[in-house]
Amino acid sequence: MKLTIFGTGYVGLVTAACFADVGHEVFCVDIDATRIGTLQRGEVPIFEPGLKELVVRNAEAGRLVFSTDARAGVQFAELIFIAVGTPPNGDGSADLRHVLDVARTIGEHIDGYKIVVGKSTVPVGTADRVGATITETMAARGVAHVFDVCSNPEFLKEGSAVEDFTKPARIIVGTGSEIVRKKLHDCYAPYNRNHDKLMYMDVRSAELTKYAANAMLATKISFMNEMANIAERLGADIEEVRKGIGSDPRIGYQFIYPGCGYGGSCFPKDVRALASIAREAGFGADLMQAVERVNDAQKDVMFQKLSQAFDGNLEGRTIALWGLAFKPNTDDMREAPSRRLMEALWGAGASVRAFDPEAMPEARRLYGGRADLVLASSPQQAAAGADALAICTEWKQFRVADFAWLKANLINPVIVDGRNLYDPEQVRQHGLLYYAIGRGDSVNRAASAPARREVA
Ligand code: UDX
Repeated sequence: MKLTIFGTGYVGLVTAACFADVGHEVFCVDIDATRIGTLQRGEVPIFEPGLKELVVRNAEAGRLVFSTDARAGVQFAELIFIAVGTPPNGDGSADLRHVLDVARTIGEHIDGYKIVVGKSTVPVGTADRVGATITETMAARGVAHVFDVCSNPEFLKEGSAVEDFTKPARIIVGTGSEIVRKKLHDCYAPYNRNHDKLMYMDVRSAELTKYAANAMLATKISFMNEMANIAERLGADIEEVRKGIGSDPRIGYQFIYPGCGYGGSCFPKDVRALASIAREAGFGADLMQAVERVNDAQKDVMFQKLSQAFDGNLEGRTIALWGLAFKPNTDDMREAPSRRLMEALWGAGASVRAFDPEAMPEARRLYGGRADLVLASSPQQAAAGADALAICTEWKQFRVADFAWLKANLINPVIVDGRNLYDPEQVRQHGLLYYAIGRGDSVNRAASAPARREVA
């Protein structure tokens, strides 16, 4: 099949490369000529396991083409995917400018029947607006071609996007049209084997399903972070509580890990956008607002613990930071807890020596040139001679730490662990003070621990 994809960002590129890999002919359009140039040279501007190989292999085979020619894109295929960004407006609502620009472009160049597939996460009702925009643009040209607009939201996770696309849990298609159902069925057939994962529903339900899925997951995390804060104050260990509740199949073990808050490009944006959509529809959406508030407060917890460890004075201290990305296996630092921590530390007069396996270029782009940030070349180089160690991302390589080495090389024996990576008892045996998330016992003992070694 021939497919056109507007937008070569995260979702667009993964979608395009995965569809090309099963033999579809895919034409990708982006208005960003630099990005298209980069892709034409076989370079992939984002870090995502397996993606570069897919892009290069399929581009070489001639099945994956990158272009800025929107007219050629519209006329290339009957199926046109919209996978452009929907950044947040100031009030949290989604900015639909790019989506509607693509709709206008389609209206300008449409030359026959088209199926327009919405992949971007968009407010409920956007498919209708896309349809209206195409119709208006065609009318201004004096043409009237038939088209359908459907919603096919994406559930990709950064770090496993290729895997999520090729082995989807579900493929949601919101449409009322039999032709669309059939076309999307054929398009996804190579990735829809063994049992049928296609779910058809009306357009608005499909649009809301995307928000509801992310909101549910974000709610689980904020719930656990709230429980962790309660556990900490009651002297209970949230890690025991997590296992205790997870064993109930109605609750389950997944996505109930407490931490220093969720980040990334989806959860924060989508929770706010859903609250904003609900408000516009005249509904308060109290739970969504609380999920957001709890997460926002959780991002301050690391700083509070460090501050507590140094009696409220971090002036002149150097804090080692392991993990900058908002989660492992990505270089993405959007809304990452590490950023809130670093900014609070700088505000308190401390400096940061950071290491991340993938996000160093991104950190340099965001904060390069700051005198109070050193980007270290290894976890050890970040920690050696620092006053304390903070951990914001659970990269595999941080899971096993040499505590004896840390005790010998940190000026103050303090570890603030935002991902609960270690066994508190084991850390303490090495004479280190361990502040984790929701592990009441470790915090209580830390508070009553003997005086720290001080800088000479
Ligand atoms: C998410 C959804 O999972 C995906 O389906 C959707 O398409 C896009 O948004 P992503 O943003 O890539 O994907 O990250 P995800 O792996 O879901 O993690 C989001 C955040 O939640 C991370 O900051 C992570 O650290 C945090 N998290 C996750 C927790 O704090 N605890 C958990 O138990 C799980």
